[in-house]
Amino acid sequence: MGNNKRLFIETYGCQMNVYDSEVVISILEKDGYTPCNGLEDAGLILVNTCSIRENAEQRVWGRLDRFLQEKKKRDVRVGVLGCMAERLKRELLSHPAVDIVAGPDTYRELPAMLRRLDESGEKQAETTLSLKETYADIEPVRTDKNGVTSFISIMRGCNNMCTYCIVPYVRGGERSRDPQSIVREAERLYRDGYKEVNLLGQNVDSYLWKNPDNPTETVNFSQLLELVALVAPDMRVRFSTSHPKDMSNGVLYSMAMYPNICTHIHLPVQSGSDRMLEKMNRKYTVAGYLERIEKIREIVPDAAVTTDIIAGFCSETEDDHQATLELMRKVRFDSAFMFQYSQRPGTKAARHFPDDVPTEIKTRRLNEIIELQSAISLERNTECIGNTYEVLIEGTSKRDDNSLFGRTSGNKVCVFPSLGHKPGEYVNIKVESCTSATLLGHII
Ligand code: 5AD
Ligand code: SF4
Repeated sequence: MGNNKRLFIETYGCQMNVYDSEVVISILEKDGYTPCNGLEDAGLILVNTCSIRENAEQRVWGRLDRFLQEKKKRDVRVGVLGCMAERLKRELLSHPAVDIVAGPDTYRELPAMLRRLDESGEKQAETTLSLKETYADIEPVRTDKNGVTSFISIMRGCNNMCTYCIVPYVRGGERSRDPQSIVREAERLYRDGYKEVNLLGQNVDSYLWKNPDNPTETVNFSQLLELVALVAPDMRVRFSTSHPKDMSNGVLYSMAMYPNICTHIHLPVQSGSDRMLEKMNRKYTVAGYLERIEKIREIVPDAAVTTDIIAGFCSETEDDHQATLELMRKVRFDSAFMFQYSQRPGTKAARHFPDDVPTEIKTRRLNEIIELQSAISLERNTECIGNTYEVLIEGTSKRDDNSLFGRTSGNKVCVFPSLGHKPGEYVNIKVESCTSATLLGHII
């Protein structure tokens, strides 16, 4: 059992899962584990999972079969963490590869679960959801590659109950983390050389911390943003995800006031049809969404706006779909994440609305959405040609060793020939050309 305490962790799903994996590494390091680079070297393989769409789960089942091969060769323990662990505890426990199942609020239990497993040889599972756990006191062990940009989880869970979404069931109710612990984490990252922090929450606009000792003392999201922006003027602050029903003008004013709060808002719209929005329980209308966009452009004129769109939600008609395309043309998002609706067992949509848009139609609509968005993204990027942007360098371009890449404040990736600058430095880039995904330019 020489490598018993060598840990390999694989992460699927959102940035919040990446953050959670860093929390898990920190918890296990305190228990004597050390991370290793390949699963062949590991005494403990963990997989942090996502349940948002069916294909996210399919991928993990495939990985479990791969871990089983490893298990047949040698003594290795396998644990499943995250959203799928919460949703499919029993099914996962019946997979021959799996020894441990731990839901998103149970990571502090992992060392004890592993000990019980080693002592008894019996599979261990913990999936209790908490109303309090925010892992506020745990210093995550950073796994990012660049040492320049990092994430801070500011809240956990979700109370929105969008009818299609599994998140409230697998991540529990919303809770906000102590702002002082967030600021301390940002300060620590800055001391370690990081130049950008990304504040993460399912709905950051509903961040609200109440002092447990004095409930009249509260901190809301725009106040938190300012606290983090004040950590260092040369450390950028980003955040996601915003919710159209909750995004306040206060956040926009903070963004306008602090040059280091990046001018990018990720504001998922999901659909351009009021009937679909109502059925999704999004609690805003197309008109309400457009009013938010107008406010963004009034208060922060150069802000980039990105979105999420779902194609083929229950009972979506051709007219509903056209309304989504119409909204996309009106808003002209800088970029978008676009998905086909995937029914998730246990959600309100799965219980009450038939998943009645045939797969071919979902796929065709999604393709139309993707095609339109890539034309709009190209137009948006073309509008940047000739302009100069401050870019934070993140590393060497994947395609060309002599080029560097970084992002503008609006989160656009920018590639340019290296003049010997290092990751973590800011440079001004004049944009000369572009694709729908990247700006190309040179340092001035
Ligand atoms: N099917 C397809 N997409 C979904 N999303 C959430 N739930 C589903 C689902 N059941 C998308 C939404 C959300 C993003 C994170 O994932 O667009 O904003
Ligand atoms: Fe993240 Fe949602 Fe996937 Fe969970 S289900 S990992 S919260 S995207």
